Amino acid sequence: MTPSEFQDRLLAWFDKHGRHDLPWQNPASPYKVWVSEVMLQQTQVATVIPYFNAFIARFPDIQSLAEASVDTVLQYWAGLGYYARGRNLHKCAQIIAERDSFPDSLDELLDLPGIGRSTAGAILSIAFKKSHPILDGNVKRVLTRFAGISEWPGSTEASKTLWKLSALYTPVHCVEDYTQAMMDLGATICTRGKPNCAVCPLVSACRAHIENKTASIPAPKPA
Ligand code: ADE
Repeated sequence: MTPSEFQDRLLAWFDKHGRHDLPWQNPASPYKVWVSEVMLQQTQVATVIPYFNAFIARFPDIQSLAEASVDTVLQYWAGLGYYARGRNLHKCAQIIAERDSFPDSLDELLDLPGIGRSTAGAILSIAFKKSHPILDGNVKRVLTRFAGISEWPGSTEASKTLWKLSALYTPVHCVEDYTQAMMDLGATICTRGKPNCAVCPLVSACRAHIENKTASIPAPKPA
């Protein structure tokens, strides 16, 4: 399947079936997208939503987050787990608050504590509409199945291949919808347990589906 066909199918699916009313969408400010992406790093959307809403009500912008004590920030993080994320968020806010604008390049974002390549890609694409790939757990599963990669996707080799694939399919236009669509497809259709291939927009070219391997791909980490 060509990248443009992949994108067309995914975007058409997203228009009809994607999530369009998440609290960090419409309008998607860099601050909100950043907070949401850090919360979503290890936590599912349904769990994140109430925490996100309370967090934004208390810390509506970078300044208010930077000026708060770390203890106050962690109170609002309580329940989400992985507290290093909350501490890093606070540290980032203090760094960003000193600048004139929110960082909008890959290098600047990667310099911030707690922001890896995929989170940076999500911020650049969703908040700034810049064409950058992501590779979070959901997208990894979609692409591993689509390309029929039988190796454990966490290996260095597979990871390189997956980043290349992700970059190949990431469009120049509508990248904010594309990124959200890939995450939504992975979270709602191409699930770990029982993927709902019957309604997947990519099914006709999915190697794992064609070869009857959706149960064994992605492969678990070798013991
Ligand atoms: N996981 C990480 N980022 C996400 C997003 N923007 N929407 C849904 N799931 C996500």
